[in-house]
Amino acid sequence: MAYSYQLETDEAYRKAYQKSIETPELFWADIAENFRWRKKWDEVLRWNFKEPKVEWFRGAKLNITENCLDRWVETQPDIPAIVWEPNDPDEASRILTYKELYEKVCQFAHVLKNNGAKRGDRICIYMPMVPELAIAVLACARIGAIHSVVFGGFSAQSIADRIQDAQCNIVVTADGAYRGNKSIPLKSIIDDALCNCPSVKKVIVLTRTSIPVSMMKERDCWWEDEIKKVEEKGLKNFEPEIMEAEDMLFILYTSGSTGKPKGVVHTCAGYMVWTNYTFVNVFQYQPGDVHFCTADIGWVTGHSYIVYGPLSAGATSLMFEGIPTWPDAGRFWEIVEKHKVNILYTAPTAIRSLMGFGLDSIKGKNLDSLKVLGTVGEPINEEAWHWYDENIGKRKCPIVDTWWQTETGGTLISNLAGVTKAKPSFATLPLPGVQPVLVDEKGNVIEGNGVSGNLCMRFPWPGMLRTTYGDHERCRTTYFSTYENLYFTGDGCLRDEEGNYRITGRVDDVLNVSGHRIGTAELENAINMHTGVVESAIVGYPHDIKGQGIYAFVIFNGIHTDENHTRQDINQTVTKIIGAIAKPDKIQFVSGLPKTRSGKIMRRILRKIAEGELQNLGDTTTLLDPMIVEEIIANRL
Ligand code: WTA
Repeated sequence: MAYSYQLETDEAYRKAYQKSIETPELFWADIAENFRWRKKWDEVLRWNFKEPKVEWFRGAKLNITENCLDRWVETQPDIPAIVWEPNDPDEASRILTYKELYEKVCQFAHVLKNNGAKRGDRICIYMPMVPELAIAVLACARIGAIHSVVFGGFSAQSIADRIQDAQCNIVVTADGAYRGNKSIPLKSIIDDALCNCPSVKKVIVLTRTSIPVSMMKERDCWWEDEIKKVEEKGLKNFEPEIMEAEDMLFILYTSGSTGKPKGVVHTCAGYMVWTNYTFVNVFQYQPGDVHFCTADIGWVTGHSYIVYGPLSAGATSLMFEGIPTWPDAGRFWEIVEKHKVNILYTAPTAIRSLMGFGLDSIKGKNLDSLKVLGTVGEPINEEAWHWYDENIGKRKCPIVDTWWQTETGGTLISNLAGVTKAKPSFATLPLPGVQPVLVDEKGNVIEGNGVSGNLCMRFPWPGMLRTTYGDHERCRTTYFSTYENLYFTGDGCLRDEEGNYRITGRVDDVLNVSGHRIGTAELENAINMHTGVVESAIVGYPHDIKGQGIYAFVIFNGIHTDENHTRQDINQTVTKIIGAIAKPDKIQFVSGLPKTRSGKIMRRILRKIAEGELQNLGDTTTLLDPMIVEEIIANRL
């Protein structure tokens, strides 16, 4: 057995689960023995959900990169750590062995140091999906700096907000990024962002697309030049900064139901143990397997299951720069064949979109290497599940439906591939250490099976968030105050007769569009920035491919030369303020919004209208202006 803690039978899972509930400290201490520590912990767990304060492996000292790199360099230096597949199939792929990745991380750690980075600094990373992104992330961890990766699809304004919130002093970026047949001018977007970010002293720029960029004296430097300086000195090692278990490892911004995105904070030891444990067990990773997680490292899935989970397990992680549908819808299958992928982990949105292209793009592709399939990010409908099972897994690959969140660090609820039973559209059972409860609106715990409610956790797991950066109170109110002594996920959930969990979707004002979280308040604020917009309300509606589509109701008192033109202008505003991923699918102009007498928008009604459920709108008599509902229905898109 490659990993002593790999659960290989249903019985082993049940036993481990039992132990993790009865004696969590003993359970996690045993697991933690499998890592490299500079000093072991004094105490496994100390916690309360009131403040909240959660500490795992208190007193331990480590550097996560020694676990992701050094220990594998000693035992398997020539095993591929990262296999990289470029956007363009005609460009050569790259392989970095553990030894090569180690050296590159160490070199870039020197570059960061040479540019003034210190332990505890916040470093913003805005890069394409190239190996240097993973290298930059790991180099931050090597020197004890806190990385804040921002997805390449976010706008200058969004980046500026994130940089300011975390007071980053360094930005690592590239000239541009390739995505399908488009290229994105990353550096130019960073230049715009930095007009309002005096904390940033250095920008390190990788060459990727070779488009012209402006390089500001003193502030900007080229990645390649900086590496050359390090190489000239012959430096291939970098002594890791020794971190405390609970030192911050990274910040990752995510949208909530109110206000601006929050910086979710993860810490070194617990996150490492959690991503590793869940990676090894959920996917049943075997040494030599090629693991292909199709997410971007700009999202938590990429952090946990491209970088930290796989590398801490000595696995081979495949990183793909492009998109599933370019040059054609066979791109994923071509990659699976070319790199003999064993584990494929993707989003339901990608599956549904590829389904739409039919079976031709799969024909002739050899998918025999596949052993395990996974999904993440949103509920998977049964139709997509069966399509994935039949056409990709050929009915011989278990599918793991992994439920988790940016805040949870790694998977909390999932079947274990080929070990515990799958059930289409169910995430199934909690992983060891995870104690889900369902509660009703009042916070009463709903016992028994065949019930549904709001999903909460009653006990900490090592990978949970510790705070929201710079605002602990926001962490408390968002996650720990709705229900006393519980972590509230924001998701609705049902538990079937056998105790399997099925996540039904968000119960707060957060949309899940193509597996990406969009806060309705944040999006409304962006739309309201457009001149002429008086007010707006955003709701989600079922969308065949994206899971949820975005429906905007907008009160506009500017002058339309043409409504479609105004729609495009509004989309442009959203693209500037948040990013293209938040553009509404539908924009309906309305003369008013359904509001209660106290001025609250009745989203329930708008949601029903957007969904096309016009029969059961519920009581509209308490509205300030009940007539407005008729008008909105009449002009529905
Ligand atoms: C949703 C992504 C159903 C859920 C890892 C959650 C899912 C939000 C699943 C977190 C799943 C994630 N089944 N819904 N398997 N996985 N979700 O933070 O609503 O980007 O709260 O983390 O995605 O999204 P986030």
